[in-house]
Amino acid sequence: MSNKGTYYITTPIYYPSSNLHIGHTYCTVMADAMARFKRLQGYDVHFLTGTDEHGQKIQAKAQEAGVTPQEYVDEVVAGIKELWKTMEISYDDFIRTTEPRHMERVQKIWKRMYDKGDIYKGAYEGLYCKECESFWTESQLVNGCCPDCGRPVEHASEEAYFFKLSNYADKILQLYDEHPEFLEPETRRNEMRNFINQGLEDLCVSRCTFDWGIPVPNDPKHVMYVWVDALSNYVTALGGPDDAEEYNKYWPADVHLVGKEIVRFHSIIWPAMLMSADLPLPKKVLGHGWLLLGGEKVSKSKAAKGMDVVDPVILIDRYGIDALKYFLLREYTFGQDGNFTNEVMLKRINFDLANDLGNLLSRTVSMIEKYCGGVVPAATTHDEIDEDLNYLNEYVEELDDDLQDVEDYLDEECECDDEDWEEDDEDDWCDGDCLSCDGCDCEDDDYCEIVCPSCGETVCFDSELDPENLLCPACGEKFGCIVEEDDYKAISEEE
Ligand code: MSP
Repeated sequence: MSNKGTYYITTPIYYPSSNLHIGHTYCTVMADAMARFKRLQGYDVHFLTGTDEHGQKIQAKAQEAGVTPQEYVDEVVAGIKELWKTMEISYDDFIRTTEPRHMERVQKIWKRMYDKGDIYKGAYEGLYCKECESFWTESQLVNGCCPDCGRPVEHASEEAYFFKLSNYADKILQLYDEHPEFLEPETRRNEMRNFINQGLEDLCVSRCTFDWGIPVPNDPKHVMYVWVDALSNYVTALGGPDDAEEYNKYWPADVHLVGKEIVRFHSIIWPAMLMSADLPLPKKVLGHGWLLLGGEKVSKSKAAKGMDVVDPVILIDRYGIDALKYFLLREYTFGQDGNFTNEVMLKRINFDLANDLGNLLSRTVSMIEKYCGGVVPAATTHDEIDEDLNYLNEYVEELDDDLQDVEDYLDEECECDDEDWEEDDEDDWCDGDCLSCDGCDCEDDDYCEIVCPSCGETVCFDSELDPENLLCPACGEKFGCIVEEDDYKAISEEE
């Protein structure tokens, strides 16, 4: 396929404060699907993910565990990489904010903003919990006390650097007006417009009461405060802001895929930082909705309460990688929140995969075996249904309808019940009208071309093989996933 240019897609870099749950998996699976689709279309794709490893919370977690922050994050990040490996997430790069390549380059971005006159020293005022060494806003307090430890808080002030975010309000609004595609869906753009119209405050970008972070250039008693460090990853991973080969090739990003709670940081702070540093802006920030459990956002605290239902490793063991990925992509409407339960997942897997797709595959393969000697016949005519099969790409959103059309075609249009076949196995239909192997280069009639649903490779398989045992020769994965009715019942009862 021809090279259509570059396509740079990113996920948020996740906090390795503990293991990831199904919500993080949801975002990464979507980004992976988009990256794979773009590769299939012929784009030179660069897919970045990673981890956001600094900050007071991680430092506190490490202290609790009796290890250094670096030791703590190393262990969690190893688990995250293992999860993405198991799930066959096709990322091209994994950035960790504790890597020297990131730390050095963030300091360069900071310096560009500082030299522009956009960073100044001031005082960070707020309600402070001495025990947790944390500042809180009035609304974060629980019964007037620290939401973490429950102790009373006091007014305090700490020396800190600030970024002149307020200077960029008009420029960001202009960006939304001139490039509405910069922030989607539209509802998020409207929210951000309202937020900016209420007035943007300057942003605190350094702290000096903890040291697990990237030192501020020329003032190392300060460490950079979360968002400057984290957001810069999209540029530093490519070698930017220096004149680096990957940076020149892939920046600006085509899509930053993020959850709706961090759209604000990506669509206000990030473009303002880039404008300040005189760097090009990403083309799009795409905000997705949340997976909910019992009406609330799936979160690490829920996962910590032993709710296996949100642990992707358990779900993979139970249903398989492809079923989990398919479910996440198919079940939820992009941009909206959706409830996550085992039952919703099982129903989707059973109805769409085991029932519709599984039955279709099974019927098709047994017909080829029974009536065509196990050989997919060459196409002799070209029906509408073949268009659907050959150009399924264009019909992704109508996949269900297409499957139904093919089923209906088998049921009604070809009117080929068993007797017809036995009597007249030389007729047009049997010669390949329906089961088109059109475009297959292989000489041998015993082989047929098929696109693997796992790796997306077009591979040839021996059409005499039993479909239950079909393995993709490119990636080794099975072509199908069937959850039996008994398993479904057993699991539902377990819940
Ligand atoms: N470290 C920051 C992001 C910095 S990006 C420069 C962060 N990390 S996080 O670990 O909290 O991950 C947040 C992202 O995980 C969300 O934006 C979203 O993509 C995903 N999700 C976490 N919980 C989720 C749900 N319950 N549902 C869907 N996605 C969720 O924020």
